[in-house]
Amino acid sequence: MQTGGLLDGRGLTKRFGGVTALNEVDFTVQQGKVTALLGENGAGKSTLVACMSGAHRPDDGALLVNGLPVRFRSPDDARRAGIAVVHQEPQMLEAQTVAANIYLSQLAYRRSWTWSAGSLNERAARHLRSLGIDDLDPGRPMSTVAGAQRQLVEIARALIQQPSVLFLDEPNASLGEEETHRLFAVVRELRDRGVGVVLVSHRLREVYELCDHIVVMRDGFKVADDAASALPIRDAVRFIMGEEKALHPVASTRASSKSRRADDEAPVLELEHVSGPGFRDVSLSIRPGEIVGMAGLVGAGRTEIALAVIGAARFTSGRMLVAGRPERFRSPADAVRRGISFVPEGRRDAVFYGQSVEFNVRAGMWGRRTPGVRRLRANEANRRVRELFAQLSVKAASPRVGASTLSGGNQQKLLFARALGSRPRLLILDEPTHGIDVGVKSETHELIRELAAEGIAIWFISSEAEEIIELAQRTLVVHQGRIVAELSAEASIGDVVTSSFGEVEHAGAMR
Ligand SMILES: Nc1ncnc2c1ncn2[C@@H]1O[C@H](COP(=O)(O)OP(=O)(O)OP(=O)(O)O)[C@@H](O)[C@H]1O
Ligand SMILES: [Mg+2]
Repeated sequence: MQTGGLLDGRGLTKRFGGVTALNEVDFTVQQGKVTALLGENGAGKSTLVACMSGAHRPDDGALLVNGLPVRFRSPDDARRAGIAVVHQEPQMLEAQTVAANIYLSQLAYRRSWTWSAGSLNERAARHLRSLGIDDLDPGRPMSTVAGAQRQLVEIARALIQQPSVLFLDEPNASLGEEETHRLFAVVRELRDRGVGVVLVSHRLREVYELCDHIVVMRDGFKVADDAASALPIRDAVRFIMGEEKALHPVASTRASSKSRRADDEAPVLELEHVSGPGFRDVSLSIRPGEIVGMAGLVGAGRTEIALAVIGAARFTSGRMLVAGRPERFRSPADAVRRGISFVPEGRRDAVFYGQSVEFNVRAGMWGRRTPGVRRLRANEANRRVRELFAQLSVKAASPRVGASTLSGGNQQKLLFARALGSRPRLLILDEPTHGIDVGVKSETHELIRELAAEGIAIWFISSEAEEIIELAQRTLVVHQGRIVAELSAEASIGDVVTSSFGEVEHAGAMR
């Protein structure tokens, strides 16, 4: 353990009812270094960040800023001590502008200045440009800002007060490669200026490109604390997953799983030259048991196509066929009834935070009415919830606990479980492994293969070329709202990446 950092946690312990989320953890934020904080979903990473930044009060242990003991009573106390946090689930005022959201705490306290909207926007624009973000209008209402860009607003917000310590809790979980590079460039610059940065992430390859120091948590304990150069990535994985599990890794079954041929079965879904908000002239078909990947940059229009299919947005032209029948859904519940389930990318809008974990999953069982099948009785439904939890390794104290008490990654699994609860014929997954730890990620891949083997059609949207290559039997590449390439199972990561940028003339393309 090092001592004498910008910020030191000593013996930090935090309990939630019967769960000890943090167990006597020592953690040091070093000046001018990037420290990675790794661990499975529910390992205690966000809790540690919260205890070091005034959001939670630890039950035990001490905090030191520049070697002097401090006690934060609120995040504001921490902010005044130069500690900023980019949260896993950013909280925004939806009716306010981007600029107002960036300067939220300043506006809330009305320090010495009162700003006109115009000068606020100007300031915000300048600040965003200094971070290399020039495609986000500060005057836009926050409610119109989606996915990755919301994360950028949160990052911009954390950086206005020039913090000396910056915690980034999965800041790039919803960012594509391009935006991640931009973010990491900012982080490198901060490090060079002496800022101590802590990065929570499940994307280990990227972590190792950036970080100087690695700390691994497991079940609330710190299990590794070493220079990145002294802890190779495979050792980090062993610490993350625990010795036993890591010795029996889920084998990659890429070759065998791709052998299923679904050519002669009628498609579950066909789109014929459909256009709509954010996409145009899209044609595709997906057959039972097929895993179709959809690649592209963040903002390419992939989610928009899916939303129109499930009835959350409208087609302006073209035709959709479901199991051979022309169809247009008026709402996502309609789509669920016809066997199409969607797992959205953002959990904020989809998790019922005020309800139990169980309620969140059972909500998925209401929509589908299969002819001849009664609605599930309570105990059948409960059994199904337990099955789904086991299948997805959902980590919750019990199905009765509130959904808001789950760690970020476990909330993501909840949405997956809900979608499976309706026993869909077509499962549309939008970035399903965002924020999911390495062990569960390969289990999720395995589960997707099993579902496909049972005959469920899978439409898999991902910004991670590696993951697409691993899973998909063919991959549709979307660029600026159009499908620009269809890649075969033999395509390489390079094929996926280059075609995502709109370059179509290359080896792996089928057309
Ligand atoms: N407010 C709370 N009430 C009850 N339990 C909680 C609360 N916050 C966290 N926990 C529990 O504490 C444990 C650690 O959660 P934490 O959010 O720190 O995990 P994490 O490492 O950040 O995981 P992830 O990678 O999924 O974000 C989990 O078991 C979680 O369910
Ligand atoms: Mg977390």
